[in-house]
Amino acid sequence: MDIKIQIRQLSVSYNGTPALRSITLDIYKNCITGFMGPAGSGKSTLITLINRMIDFEEGVRYDGEIRIDGINVLDPAVDVVALRRRIGMVFAVPLPLPRSIFDNIAYGPRLKGITNMTDLYAIVEDSLKKAFLFDEVKDRLMTSAMKLSGGQQQRLCLARTLALQPDIILLDEPCSGLDPISTAKIEEALSELKKDYTIILVSNNTKQIARTSDYAAFFYMGELIEFGETPRIFTNPSQKKTEDYIQGKFG
Ligand SMILES: Nc1ncnc2c1ncn2[C@@H]1O[C@H](COP(=O)(O)OP(=O)(O)O)[C@@H](O)[C@H]1O
Ligand SMILES: [Mg+2]
Repeated sequence: MDIKIQIRQLSVSYNGTPALRSITLDIYKNCITGFMGPAGSGKSTLITLINRMIDFEEGVRYDGEIRIDGINVLDPAVDVVALRRRIGMVFAVPLPLPRSIFDNIAYGPRLKGITNMTDLYAIVEDSLKKAFLFDEVKDRLMTSAMKLSGGQQQRLCLARTLALQPDIILLDEPCSGLDPISTAKIEEALSELKKDYTIILVSNNTKQIARTSDYAAFFYMGELIEFGETPRIFTNPSQKKTEDYIQGKFG
């Protein structure tokens, strides 16, 4: 397995309070890596460092390294705009633009200078298919995205991300507001997408991590307690804390 992201001795604090403590972790290419752990354990902090979205926060300090394809993205000289373009992100709450389904997905490609409608349509169709949404919306691409169900909006947000052709996709609790059927569709899409992308899935649902991820990382109070292949983590965790968490003894 090729390593896509190498995280090395990464520590983060907000206004002097530690949020991550010396995290060292490899993220493998063409795999889904699941991040689990109770609220406040540092999962969102870690993924927002990978695309440097954390730079929007006040009072943040970080040190250590996050190497993507060998390049340390925490280096102050890194072009963060270019970095964010390579890394797609999907959040817990889907936030479509109050525009048509088509325009939501074409928005990013248009910003990149693609204006030909045939080209745009091809990107929209391809992105919707990859997000397992095309069949449900193909007859109403020009209607408002706001009329879609929550589960459809979340897949639309995934499609919008894919239209920008990232190579890494970060998802921060993307199914937390969704019903089981919508959740299953997202999981199905991710299982296909990992062939072409490197995916990090943050979830407060350990069953989702068990079902979908190839590797799992368990975080607790800013520490990486355990990391490994998902079947091993769930059947034979080496740390008592991991076992207790998986068994639902705390959350
Ligand atoms: N913008 C922020 N300012 C101050 N503290 C923050 C901020 N974001 C997160 N934290 C703190 O950092 C820790 C980790 O939070 P977070 O990364 O959001 O955890 P998780 O995603 O696992 O719930 C928590 O103690 C949280 O309160
Ligand atoms: Mg979070």
